[in-house]
Amino acid sequence: MDKLETLREALNQCDEVILNGLLMRNRIAEDIIAYKQAAGLPILQPEQEAKQQEWFRAKLQGKSHQSEIASVFEQILDSSKRIQADKLFDYNIVLIGFMGAGKSTISRTLSTVFAMHVIEMDQIIAEREGMSISDIFEVHGEEYFRDAETNLLIEMQSRKNMVISCGGGTPMRACNVAEMKKNGRVVLLNATPETIYERVKDSHNRPLIENNKNVPFIADLMEKRWEKYMAAADIIIQTDGKTEMEICEELIQSLLAFDTKE
Ligand code: S3P
Repeated sequence: MDKLETLREALNQCDEVILNGLLMRNRIAEDIIAYKQAAGLPILQPEQEAKQQEWFRAKLQGKSHQSEIASVFEQILDSSKRIQADKLFDYNIVLIGFMGAGKSTISRTLSTVFAMHVIEMDQIIAEREGMSISDIFEVHGEEYFRDAETNLLIEMQSRKNMVISCGGGTPMRACNVAEMKKNGRVVLLNATPETIYERVKDSHNRPLIENNKNVPFIADLMEKRWEKYMAAADIIIQTDGKTEMEICEELIQSLLAFDTKE
């Protein structure tokens, strides 16, 4: 064998070690999530990921190609998270709730802990239309915006294992709820009007409350929507006074319990 052949052979053996290591790692990741689930343990254990990162940083000290290896390791961690999410949920997680209930925040947390893809409906519609939600309302009217929401939900039927963060008014149309339920579990995030007010008072991208940012107006609109929110929800999570991690853990456990019941 000439020198080049020998090197290629050695490289091939490395690839085999990596491949077998990844296969084993993925199996273990699946076993861990199955064990946590069966033993009723918390699914999210961020301190464990932090420990792992620390171990990895220490191991890399003084080695060559640190940033290249770190970025591969990051991808390996992300793929483990996705494998675990796939094992837990083979459907879309659809977040509904009033403006400021925490849909976007919790979507982002879910995407961090499970490396799940997030569909932020308002953002996608605004991007496609090339204008802000407030401008869409002003230029085209609310019905136009509502149609865009319906079309986007229909489009989402071909995807799974994603987090869909709806606009606060999306569940008002029965046909939207029917779309959500085709391949998703609907999670209603709720908060008191006082909490909602605190969360939305400084933002200016919600045309329906822009000129009425006060607790009585919010309470009244919530009341009007409540029946439809309840009719759409598979599970309900109260978010006041809870951390993002607490909300996500409760959401995961409630979804698992919901699926066991079904
Ligand atoms: C709306 C809520 C907004 C946005 C639009 C209308 C509503 O989304 O879709 O301003 O009808 O409640 P957020 O709930 O994400 O603020």
